[in-house]
Amino acid sequence: MNEKVNVFDYTKEIIDALAKGVLVTTKADDKVNSMVISWGAIGIEWGKPIFTIYIRESRYTRELLEKNGEFTVNIPMGSYDKKKITNICGSMSGHDIDKIKAANLTLVDSEEISVPGIKELPLTLECKVLYKQKQDKKAIGQEQTEKYYPYDIPGTYHGSNRDYHTAYYGEIVRASIIK
Ligand SMILES: Cc1cc2nc3c(=O)[nH]c(=O)nc-3n(C[C@H](O)[C@H](O)[C@H](O)COP(=O)(O)O)c2cc1C
Repeated sequence: MNEKVNVFDYTKEIIDALAKGVLVTTKADDKVNSMVISWGAIGIEWGKPIFTIYIRESRYTRELLEKNGEFTVNIPMGSYDKKKITNICGSMSGHDIDKIKAANLTLVDSEEISVPGIKELPLTLECKVLYKQKQDKKAIGQEQTEKYYPYDIPGTYHGSNRDYHTAYYGEIVRASIIK
């Protein structure tokens, strides 16, 4: 069961939680996968509420997103096993393991999209990709390039790496709190 909410009533909670890490979940070919993100943006474009995520090329998440342009963002409200969930979903890849099982996450069907939400982080944004753009490495300043794209780490490393980000702009088609 979930209760529909107005997403912009929760903007501060979302931004505060984002800095510490929230979950993005994707689904394709019956595989569900969650990863931690701390880069994201909430706002309005084309008169619609939008949540934008920034996903490096090497992520399994990107592979699933390219097959099914829908994702959920799950934000904690209250306590949860942050250490375990962050360790698993923020440094292991769905290329190698089933993180939903490993992190013991409870999937809850969404109302508007095919990708489920995560009960343990109950504030759920159901998003449909409206637009995507691979970020232009020539337009990224030297400071950011040196810090975030150091060109010296193999492709599957979970941290800063040579692979650039693609911005996926998701229309927030429903926001709710899983009960
Ligand atoms: C706190 C935290 C924030 C992160 N933020 C991002 C992010 O915004 N974008 C990104 O591509 N990876 C980010 N990562 C790394 C991914 O969560 C990590 O590489 C994950 O294993 C990718 O999973 P996947 O290959 O199953 O998609 C973050 C990791 C942590 C711990």
